[in-house]
Amino acid sequence: MHIVRGRLTGAVVALALCAGAASAGTFPDFGYQPPSSYTGPIFKLSQNYPQKLPSGPLPAFFKLLPSPLSNDFEAWRPYAEAVKQYCLEGNVENDWYVQKNTVRHWYHAPWQHYGPLGREGIHGLTKEAQIQSKQLAPTQTTTGQTFAVGIYNDIGGYTFGQVWKNPQDPDPSFTSKPNSFHDGTVVCKPLFADVDLSQVPFLVNPVLWQAYVTDSFDSANREIKPVALIQMDFAVRDSRIPGTGWIFGTFQYNGAVTGKPGWDNLVPVGVMWGNDPEDTGDSYTNKQPTVTKINPDLKETAINAKPELPPTHLGWNGRLDGPVDNPVSACMSCHMTAESPQLSPMNPTFQAPDKVPPVGSKEWMRWFQNEMAGTPFDAAAKSTDFSLQLAAGIADFYDWKCNQGGVFAEGGNACEQARNFRLKLMKSSKPPAKVYKIERDQVLEELH
Ligand code: HEC
Repeated sequence: MHIVRGRLTGAVVALALCAGAASAGTFPDFGYQPPSSYTGPIFKLSQNYPQKLPSGPLPAFFKLLPSPLSNDFEAWRPYAEAVKQYCLEGNVENDWYVQKNTVRHWYHAPWQHYGPLGREGIHGLTKEAQIQSKQLAPTQTTTGQTFAVGIYNDIGGYTFGQVWKNPQDPDPSFTSKPNSFHDGTVVCKPLFADVDLSQVPFLVNPVLWQAYVTDSFDSANREIKPVALIQMDFAVRDSRIPGTGWIFGTFQYNGAVTGKPGWDNLVPVGVMWGNDPEDTGDSYTNKQPTVTKINPDLKETAINAKPELPPTHLGWNGRLDGPVDNPVSACMSCHMTAESPQLSPMNPTFQAPDKVPPVGSKEWMRWFQNEMAGTPFDAAAKSTDFSLQLAAGIADFYDWKCNQGGVFAEGGNACEQARNFRLKLMKSSKPPAKVYKIERDQVLEELH
């Protein structure tokens, strides 16, 4: 089921959603259908989520976890390289039309088709953050935009199927304590940049995808244009990890590595498995990189020190982040806030300037604590266990129910439920609770 500009054709969405248990066609594939001049393959949402928890062995790379956990990236290199292969095998040869993968099954998150950032129809890419001037390299003087697609292995896909078992009533209690994603959940996410390639040395010999994307970050107008592979993220649920139960890692493209276009040009940036709550300094923050500043005091981030990694900015005070991520955040800092409803912004700076706490203060450090898988960031919400796509999908669903769903009699309940829940929260908490939009790098107005 394809939706042409999700917001306008609610009736088509409704038909798709009436189909009952999740199977092909239950959730819309994308929000932005390429023009008819495009004759190539079209994105299909992989949504036949396993109905039973897969019982096979854990991914083989689980055996490569360094013991003890070490902030020396070389101890992690075999693990990171094996996760990369796990993400790429069977996907690269099929241009990431993951249903064609004969090595293993992969699934997509539903409800990412919706709204102005929603999935486009060629590879299912969603719109992400703006690329700031000089964020990638000193020679990069114009801004750009980012697009990405996330995939979940069968163990992660199972949990998505549980949460969305009733497509009209998502239930995040399946990811909130005492529940969480199950051990062996793997998420991979390649990211693509629309930026002047001649200004970014490491994007030489690019891997290019055609994508139906906005012609610039601030524009709503879409066109088909090439975007270049720049980063690939992963997240692995592993209950052996103290403090969080998760490992996040990322790779950066460097086309000089092999001298020709290819996914083997992805070099590791590093991994993180905690937010280093004790490190309150700011001297390794590096918004416009000319070198990579590795903070040796961090105990829960390990960064690749080899010259294969082009100079890059990392996250706040050197915690892990990728080239198109926010330099005052970190993978797990953002992802730890994932909850439903989203009662806090993803980063302390995503608020009105007068509300941003001093860098490194106790209030700021709320975003750099460690929380175990399944723990909500705000006690009144349900955790979506580090999955921002799950949190955003549920928020999109309620937004559609409330704002677009007036036409559908059966839509009333879910909207009212959500609204009543929020009203109750607002009245009972001091200061009154607010619900935030899950959008990258924005100063956010509260939704309700
Ligand atoms: C500024 C906040 C922010 C930072 C920093 C960030 N992410 Fe995300 N990430 C998001 C949001 C929002 C989504 C969901 C929407 C989307 O797909 O972009 C997401 C999606 C993902 C997904 C898909 C599954 C999911 O959880 O939704 C993975 C995997 C992921 N990010 C990994 C990483 C890694 C690894 C890093 C660090 C290298 C990172 N992220 C840094 C905000 C962030």
